[in-house]
Amino acid sequence: VHRVIRDALTNGLCRHSYVIGIGGGALLDAVGFGAALVHRGLRHIRMPTTTLSQGDSGVGVKNGINLEGVKNAVGAFAPPFAVVNDLSFLATLSQGLLLDGMAEAFKVAIIKEAAFFDFLEANAAALAKGSLPLIEEAVRRSAGLHLDHIRASNDPFEFGVARPLDFGHWAAHRLEGQSGFSIRHGQAVAIGLAVDTLYARDKGLLSATESRRIIGALRQAGLPTYHHLLSARDTDGRLAVVAGLEQFREHLGGDLSVTLPKGLGHRVEIHEMDEAAIERAIRNLEERTARP
Ligand SMILES: NC(=O)c1ccc[n+]([C@@H]2O[C@H](COP(=O)([O-])OP(=O)(O)OC[C@H]3O[C@@H](n4cnc5c(N)ncnc54)[C@H](O)[C@@H]3O)[C@@H](O)[C@H]2O)c1
Ligand SMILES: [Zn+2]
Repeated sequence: VHRVIRDALTNGLCRHSYVIGIGGGALLDAVGFGAALVHRGLRHIRMPTTTLSQGDSGVGVKNGINLEGVKNAVGAFAPPFAVVNDLSFLATLSQGLLLDGMAEAFKVAIIKEAAFFDFLEANAAALAKGSLPLIEEAVRRSAGLHLDHIRASNDPFEFGVARPLDFGHWAAHRLEGQSGFSIRHGQAVAIGLAVDTLYARDKGLLSATESRRIIGALRQAGLPTYHHLLSARDTDGRLAVVAGLEQFREHLGGDLSVTLPKGLGHRVEIHEMDEAAIERAIRNLEERTARP
């Protein structure tokens, strides 16, 4: 962020200048945030180069960085002047980075479009093998759904408490922090989706078949559904991941609001979570992971 600011000042950029960020979500976040600060906001253009940034973060209005061990601790809402999604960037991504964007695709499909979930489920094995045409199709549909939400939700700057696009993210952000940010966002999101899927099943929001399909498809697509840090405990014996709920609420402001799936393709906002049920979900994932 400092470098963006320094370069902008050294090069005499003004509010009519354009700063172009070319890279993954982390770079775009830093460039967008830096650009938002200089002269109270230079225009920024994003060229996302990963599946995750092309399908999700790049098309959004948020820019932020982690600080003091807190995910997205500082940042700004600053819509980009333009976003250019060029699928040819994806050809050089490692297998892991290719799949990271699939986690966000599953996220948005599960709560918004059952037909997209069917597509991801039917092609899970091919996605896991890194089939580019299918990954491109998933990125395109994911970007469309994310963009539609931001455009049509009437709340692009999140004045309300509901944040459907953050399904699975309370645990994901916490796991990223717990791991010292060594777990990538996409991996953490896949695990967070698995936790909240089993939680939703526990609370009767998903049928046994629906939750089995979701966990099965995530695993078949090569995405993680468990990490040993999920089972880590604080000194008082409480699951460490649960502190993620309070951090999530703080970041959002107001009452806690967590989006869960309610049947495939639909969602519901809940305002409290039952720790015993979270623990059951985590135990269940741990046991499944132990099985081949
Ligand atoms: N602002 C938002 O709304 C928002 C939403 C979701 C995620 N995010 C953030 O996005 C970040 C994750 O983004 P990401 O998944 O794009 O990963 P990333 O930005 O961390 O990039 C991962 C790695 O991929 C490399 N890379 C990028 N493009 C490449 C390419 N075409 N070929 C080869 N290597 C390439 C990068 O150099 C980096 O080493 C997280 O920090 C997350 O918090 C932000
Ligand atoms: Zn995300």
